[in-house]
Amino acid sequence: MIQTVQAHVEKNYLTEKQGVLSWFFSTDHKRIAILYTGSITAFFFLGGFFALLMRLNLLTPRDQLLSPETYNKMFTMHGIIMVWFS
Ligand code: HEM
Repeated sequence: MIQTVQAHVEKNYLTEKQGVLSWFFSTDHKRIAILYTGSITAFFFLGGFFALLMRLNLLTPRDQLLSPETYNKMFTMHGIIMVWFS
């Protein structure tokens, strides 16, 4: 006797549609929440990386890591990203 085994995949907001575009153009609030969570986490780490550069620069006696102009850029990007993007 031949038996076919079919995996039962439950249909839900994660399995209903597949592919990158289905995520980009999704209007499902649960998918959008996941996209938000991923984005703010990524931005939080980017802002944290800029903070790390500032801190390392402040560890050195006379701006040995970043130029004053670059330090200001890191400061601005860190502040904006932390407040508005994460
Ligand atoms: C929720 C928002 C923010 C979070 C979670 C955050 C987090 C951090 C962290 C963890 C550091 C490293 C501190 C250290 O190693 O001593 C840091 C450094 C710094 N942050 Fe923020 N920050 C935020 C907003 C801002 C804003 C709005 C500004 C300015 C407009 C700012 C300016 C700075 C500066 C100048 C440093 C480097 C000074 C230092 O490391 O002592 N931050 N931030």
